[in-house]
Amino acid sequence: MRMLNYLNYICIAVIGFATCEVSRQKLEEIAIESLDCRENTCTNLKYPLAAEVAYFSEKVTKHLRNYESLILHSSHLANLPRKLFLKLPQLVAFHVLECELQQVDRECFEGAKSLRRLNLGGNALRVLDSNTFELATQLEELNLSDNQIEDLPTTIFRPLKNLQRINLSKNRLMTISQYIFSQLGSLNSINLDSNQLSELPGELFRDQRKHLSDFSARNNQLERIPFNMFSKIAHLSLSFNRQLRSLHLSAEINELEATNCGLESVKLDGRVVGVQLETNLNLNELKISEPQDLEHLYVANTNLYKLDFLSKATKLVDLDVTGIVNLADLPEITSAKGLERLSFTYDNLTSDHMDMLPHLKDLNYLEISHEEGSEIFIKDLDEDFFVEESELNCGQLADLLEFELPKDTAILEDRLVGDPRGPMRCGMS
Ligand SMILES: *[C@@H]1O[C@H](CO)[C@@H](O)[C@H](O)[C@H]1NC(C)=O
Ligand SMILES: *[C@@H]1O[C@H](CO)[C@@H](O)[C@H](O)[C@H]1NC(C)=O
Ligand SMILES: *[C@@H]1O[C@H](CO)[C@@H](O)[C@H](O)[C@H]1NC(C)=O
Repeated sequence: MRMLNYLNYICIAVIGFATCEVSRQKLEEIAIESLDCRENTCTNLKYPLAAEVAYFSEKVTKHLRNYESLILHSSHLANLPRKLFLKLPQLVAFHVLECELQQVDRECFEGAKSLRRLNLGGNALRVLDSNTFELATQLEELNLSDNQIEDLPTTIFRPLKNLQRINLSKNRLMTISQYIFSQLGSLNSINLDSNQLSELPGELFRDQRKHLSDFSARNNQLERIPFNMFSKIAHLSLSFNRQLRSLHLSAEINELEATNCGLESVKLDGRVVGVQLETNLNLNELKISEPQDLEHLYVANTNLYKLDFLSKATKLVDLDVTGIVNLADLPEITSAKGLERLSFTYDNLTSDHMDMLPHLKDLNYLEISHEEGSEIFIKDLDEDFFVEESELNCGQLADLLEFELPKDTAILEDRLVGDPRGPMRCGMS
């Protein structure tokens, strides 16, 4: 009895293995008889069967020899067609858009010695073999966005030594191997937006640390970001990770964007230039160790109660502190002599530091929100203020600003072109 079971098991295993092998090799190759193309854009290829793979013949590719890029779209291709690059070795870019593509096999890239940009975005890819891109070694940009990829073999990108940009957004990745980008020394832009990642391995960018320029993992379920994950980065986007409560980074960051998360505490130890943290309703702690390089700070709709470091932010150009209920006063920003844009909420408490506004000579955009709405003042090149979406008069304006408007300031409501009413003139006369 026992023996019989054992034999059965072996049998099933062998059969299972065999069918699998057979179905992989048995892809029936079907020559594409005609191609419906306009210039280098071809549509209406119908090879929807998973057991069939189309291939490009001499005949149909003849008129495409002068193009460096080829676009296939509005087609139904279960498998990526074969022999394209054998027939058209000059192709630098290949886009397969909305073709319901499910499988891509290694053979498809035979002869792809010029291929630098591959776009397979917006298809139905779910599983990719680890050798898929083995023959596409010259790739610099790979777009796999908007597919259904759940998992990536650890070494799938390893042959792509020239890869610079990869887009894996809008897939179903729940985890990512710490080795997935190993040895990719040229990779500088990585997009993992809109997946289901809850964690990023601390060593994920071990081989990109010196030159990673863009990393985006918006709209995931990230709970933490390892402290030393980045050392220097131009753009870091982490917005819409509602589970992210705390963010502590040591990196030098040009632009950090982490809006609409669940952040309570943010500590940035390295040099930062732009920081966007709007709509983190529970954010009550923000520490920026090197505020002297800060140029843009957006912290609207947070729960902050002090922004002491701003007194040292001498290079600040943009500041948005709208909708911060706990902020007792406008932060002290008199050292930010070059401030150009300021947005804040006015209430009866916000008054002491209003005196500084007239001293901000470069201020050309001022947005004041209050109970009844908001006013926007835009100084134009002639040093006038324009007012949008408001019906207020000069007196109200002066009250609100609590300082006398500069002489001969013209206040223009945002009117339709041709509105006969002239500008409102305010200021000391
Ligand atoms: C990548 O693919 C997505 C989905 O089709 C598309 O929206 C995006 O523009 C593509 N990006 C590039 C650089 O081609
Ligand atoms: C990645 O694809 C998304 C759409 O799916 C697109 O919005 C984004 O711009 C792409 N990013 C890059 C760097 O190509
Ligand atoms: C603000 O001031 C106005 C008039 O000076 C007063 O009527 C109002 O109650 C004050 N509001 C608060 C929240 O103190």
